[in-house]
Amino acid sequence: MNPMHSSPPPEHVKKRVEELREQINYHNYLYYVLDAPEIPDAEYDRMLRELEELEKRYPELITPDSPTQRVGAPPVKEFGEVRHDPPMLSLNNAFKDQEVHDFDRRVRERLGVEQVEYHAEPKLDGLAISLIYEEGVLVRGATRGDGFRGEDVTANVRTIGAIPLRLRGSGYPRVLDVRGEVFMTKEGFERLNAAQERAGLKPFANPRNAAAGSLRQLDPNVTAQRPLTMYCWGIGLVQGGTLPERHSAIMERLRDWGLRVSPKSQVVKGVQGCLAYYRRMAEERDELPYEIDGVVYKVDRIDWQERLGELSRAPRWALAHKFPAKEEMTRLLDVEWQVGRTGALTPVARLEPVSVGGVTVSNATLHNQDEIERKDIRIGDTVIVRRAGDVIPEVVAVVESRRPPDARKPRLPRHCPVCGSDVILLPGEKIARCSGGLYCPAQRREAIKHFASRRAMDIEGLGDKLVEQLDEKGLIRDVADLYYLQQEDLEKLERMGKKSAQNLLQALEKSKRTTLARFIYALGIRHVGEATAKEIADHFGSLERIMQATREDLEAVQDIGPVVAESIYRFFREKHNREVIDKLLAAGIHWPAPPRRDRESLPLAGKTFVLTGTLSSMTREEAKERLEALGAKVSGSVSKRTSYVVVGADPGSKYDKALQLGIPVLDEPAFLELIG
Ligand code: IVH
Repeated sequence: MNPMHSSPPPEHVKKRVEELREQINYHNYLYYVLDAPEIPDAEYDRMLRELEELEKRYPELITPDSPTQRVGAPPVKEFGEVRHDPPMLSLNNAFKDQEVHDFDRRVRERLGVEQVEYHAEPKLDGLAISLIYEEGVLVRGATRGDGFRGEDVTANVRTIGAIPLRLRGSGYPRVLDVRGEVFMTKEGFERLNAAQERAGLKPFANPRNAAAGSLRQLDPNVTAQRPLTMYCWGIGLVQGGTLPERHSAIMERLRDWGLRVSPKSQVVKGVQGCLAYYRRMAEERDELPYEIDGVVYKVDRIDWQERLGELSRAPRWALAHKFPAKEEMTRLLDVEWQVGRTGALTPVARLEPVSVGGVTVSNATLHNQDEIERKDIRIGDTVIVRRAGDVIPEVVAVVESRRPPDARKPRLPRHCPVCGSDVILLPGEKIARCSGGLYCPAQRREAIKHFASRRAMDIEGLGDKLVEQLDEKGLIRDVADLYYLQQEDLEKLERMGKKSAQNLLQALEKSKRTTLARFIYALGIRHVGEATAKEIADHFGSLERIMQATREDLEAVQDIGPVVAESIYRFFREKHNREVIDKLLAAGIHWPAPPRRDRESLPLAGKTFVLTGTLSSMTREEAKERLEALGAKVSGSVSKRTSYVVVGADPGSKYDKALQLGIPVLDEPAFLELIG
């Protein structure tokens, strides 16, 4: 007992505690079971905190089924063993319609009936769990194990919000063993893997593995952080009470008691009903927020289930009808690097061909170098490939136990496999890119399309199709070649008459007159969109100055950070890019000199400043920029023509000179006031 409160809790506290628990459990039910929360999370949290406070003051009020008691159990060295009574059975599998027909026929023959109603359910891809409720209170949670013996994971199960610590309502048996599937939603899985990645940990291969790994944590506090949830699919031992006579009704009852049951389940008639359900779920599969690997049909009448019984650990009254597998195993023969539109190098796995869900897969994406390292994928490895929906097949994991001794790590090439330019990996980026830019054939077409686009060089009539034709025919190798096209070249193209050829040449001619900002944007430098291009153009005023700018110069431009600065800097260091620019200028591309800002009207126009000493509020460079922005000139030495000398801490000889010449001196506060 809490020594600070030896007095027993007053009645009104007891009542409030009861009230809060009831409320919290009710809102849990609305949230998890009905998917229809009524109050905002903040309100729920507030109630939970109030309950926590009261229980802290009066620990004698704490009960194991209090909603506050989900976390806090200490880690264990190993899980205890539990026996399942009755055992947790497995299911017979069907892959073809015929096998479902056979199943239905056997069931009908054994029962001697014409037609059977089945309860059709999604087959969740998680792990089986048994939950024992005594007097409505959760007393044990256990994994399936081998079906006869599993692991006691009670402390972990208690952390799963979707699992009630106490059943709702009344009428439940004294002892009830609820069985179901613990799983992770696709979204929860993505989030968890992103967190794993941030922590430098290995990602989980799929939601199933992630769920299993999370539930079998020795430290319940880790499990508590994992986005686990559950759906019930059956029951085990029932003592001191009765349940309805149909499986569908039992599931309904479980839902009333606050347990989660899949809303996708339904009663169907005969084999046709089963197959129709299968088709529907197969269609819905990719849209569901969690993974399913098939559907399960169960004879709905419990007395019929009992008559049918089981054979070698699988019930005769149930059948799993599996979807085509999404994952298969095969060998990674090699890794090649593909160059995409933006120059991104994507590692592509060359695989020993394998049929995944009925489609032969011999290539799969490996995403990027980072992923290869995190998943520790090596050439020669046996890997798991997944093909989901319409997406490109991917390598999800390695079967490490099958790694041959000569397996070798794939290496990011130092030069672009297409054009030979340097491959660069910018700091903070995962994707390596070819620096060839406009010169790299793989990037060329897209680069040309971008160059010609309306907001860039605005070459009217040069659409995607035409760009592709020109490239195919070898008429353009880089964007500059556009300006060297001849009437005869164009007329040879499909659907290109004399007139349209002339029009295109005219459009090209017209596009030569542009602005520096458009030109910079048209070059397609990574990270340089329209706005950045304009900033750069305004800041430097000329192409030469931009091309010569150092990283630091570039970073001095508004809104340009180190990543963008690096990208621009590298672009202009690439020889091929400089050649293309020369060729463009030689073709006659030009722009008006940047409109000179009307300096005369700026507040500090005509004034010359000299800075000395250290300012506390900004660097000298920043002070210089601010002054220049206001129209002032900043000079390095003091003369009679100096308007002001700004003096920071520890000024140098410029200060003495100012005093000598009688130049007005500004200390930092005065300076700040002046520049506003
Ligand atoms: S019924 C006798 N229903 O699949 C009842 N199982 O392959 C046996 N599973 O161990 C299970 N969704 O972990 C059943 N709707 C569902 C299921 C389901 C997933 C899992 C369960 C079981 C395994 C058998």
